[in-house]
Amino acid sequence: MTQEQQLMDQAKLAAQRTYSPYSHFPVGAALLTASGEIISGCNVENISYGLTNCAERSALFAAISQGHAPGSFKAMAIYAPKVALISPCGACRQVLLELMARDAVVTCQGSDPAASRSWTLEQLLPGAFDSF
Ligand code: THU
Repeated sequence: MTQEQQLMDQAKLAAQRTYSPYSHFPVGAALLTASGEIISGCNVENISYGLTNCAERSALFAAISQGHAPGSFKAMAIYAPKVALISPCGACRQVLLELMARDAVVTCQGSDPAASRSWTLEQLLPGAFDSF
């Protein structure tokens, strides 16, 4: 199994741990660290809807909380089974840009594996508000 497949498998497992009683839209994300470790996250919702944390940010915040260096993450896999192809929200794109490695790749998969896509950070957020 390739590292990419392993990463997507972990994103699928994370989606099973979702707390999404309001949207019923499970999402899992898995992050590849510089040392080859995989850290995953899922979306965690709240009755005060705006407090919801997306799977992507859950994974990134978990990894940093566990001591992995910001800017060191090489790849992220995102999985959401209730849509043909998932694509990260704008807020997560800004956070991904700041915390992933510059050349990181983000691979997304929904219910249709044939529709899976990979994006660079520049493709996800062109002309972003960046470090100053
Ligand atoms: N969500 C994610 O976790 N990641 C995405 O890329 C898109 C949206 C979550 C937020 C909320 O819990 C649910 O999916 C519906 O928007």
